[in-house]
Amino acid sequence: MQNSIQTQIREQIDIAFRNAIIVNPAYLDDEQLSREGQFAVLTEIFNTNVRNNEIREVCSHFAPIFQGGHPVHLSVLGKTGTGKTITLLYLLQEFERLCSEKGIPFQQYHLDLCCPAPCFRALNTLACLMGASKFYKRGISLEDLMTAIERCLLSTSGYVAIFVDEADNIRTDPNTFFTFLVKRLPLRVNAKIILLFASNRLNWSDNLDPRVKSCLKMRELIFEPYDATSLQHILGLRVEKALRPGTVEDGVIEKIAAVSSRNHGDARKAVDLLTRAAYLAERKGERITQATVDLASDEIERDKYLAMIRTSPKHLQAALYSALTGKHKGHALRTGDAYLLYDRFCREASLTPLTQRAFTDLLSELDMYGFLRASTVSLGRYGRTKEIYVSVSPAIIDQMRRLIRSNLDLSNEVIYGNCSGSRPKAGGHLRVNGGASEPGAWARLTRC
Ligand SMILES: Nc1ncnc2c1ncn2[C@@H]1O[C@H](COP(=O)(O)OP(=O)(O)OP(=O)(O)O)[C@@H](O)[C@H]1O
Ligand SMILES: [Mg+2]
Repeated sequence: MQNSIQTQIREQIDIAFRNAIIVNPAYLDDEQLSREGQFAVLTEIFNTNVRNNEIREVCSHFAPIFQGGHPVHLSVLGKTGTGKTITLLYLLQEFERLCSEKGIPFQQYHLDLCCPAPCFRALNTLACLMGASKFYKRGISLEDLMTAIERCLLSTSGYVAIFVDEADNIRTDPNTFFTFLVKRLPLRVNAKIILLFASNRLNWSDNLDPRVKSCLKMRELIFEPYDATSLQHILGLRVEKALRPGTVEDGVIEKIAAVSSRNHGDARKAVDLLTRAAYLAERKGERITQATVDLASDEIERDKYLAMIRTSPKHLQAALYSALTGKHKGHALRTGDAYLLYDRFCREASLTPLTQRAFTDLLSELDMYGFLRASTVSLGRYGRTKEIYVSVSPAIIDQMRRLIRSNLDLSNEVIYGNCSGSRPKAGGHLRVNGGASEPGAWARLTRC
């Protein structure tokens, strides 16, 4: 018996090795790659003319530093995953190398505000990057932090590039932070300060104090979403570095690139789709095919919606449940019917139902998140109503319903009214656990 289980384990490990598609997972997740590794990948990609225009723009922007000039500040804008951070870091590193070859003093700091931070945290992080201060939770004033940064740069000559990544993430007192960087710091140090900002928000600087804005004198550069050809280069290199040769069928890279460029143009998401497809194929012991890509894409969609539901307020979940449960009979579900379902579901889940007006607001919120489409239609003299169409794929509706039920501590064995996929099989019947007039009886139908 012991032998047989040990043999099984060995066999399973052998199978896992035989099926392995991903041989170098770090190339599918940049977090696992060293900075040098990331830059090596970028060098190969940039050599295929990807991001040519943006690179040309940034280079011409920085060109004056090689003739003693002082470029104005630069704001790089664009959607997520368009390579703003990685491209700027790559170019800054190249400028640093070129400057050191030419004997021009050049320093660069990357202040990564990946999470919303108050002015204090941003200044403290910048001071830590420069080695001007230690990490403080509190107990030091903004003035002390500013003075520490100034003191550190006092003896520095040449150029100091400060790259403020996700610049819109300074939520408390951004004016103090930007006034310091834009107006005060350049006056108090000898070095020529060059500020670079990156953000997903085109209007990130709109709410700044007009006096700061007028001193910013920013040039703006937009990173367009990646097109299919660029994504093909990016994905092709990942396949070459990360996956076992011969495990990707023809047309797979093209398909991922086409779908990704059409949907978002985000390189991070495109690589994620490739990774999911590789793991799925590995589990099945197959090569990656176009069908695997479709499955992986469904999996990503499902995870996204389920994660969203998990963190939503209970009434929003209840409203979504009613929209997912309503029987459409080829027609759209109307607000009144959806409200009835919601009301009954709330009673089942021991929630006090909100008013119909508040429920309609919840529907609009769900529409905004992309769970459904709710359009207002006129019924002539009967007034107006919303028609509700569920916009998530039918494959995940059942999972979403189950998740909502378990979030609200309800059993998943209950057959809920007319939900699809939970109709009794031929020969089965429904039992009502209580008088029909009792509130919630509608919901308490169980499969016998
Ligand atoms: N040109 C490229 N070559 C190879 N990989 C790339 C390229 N551009 C982006 N990527 C991949 O996409 C990921 C996201 O890039 P990056 O962080 O620079 O995007 P971003 O525009 O700064 O996004 P965000 O707005 O979310 O910060 C990188 O980690 C890298 O894996
Ligand atoms: Mg970024």
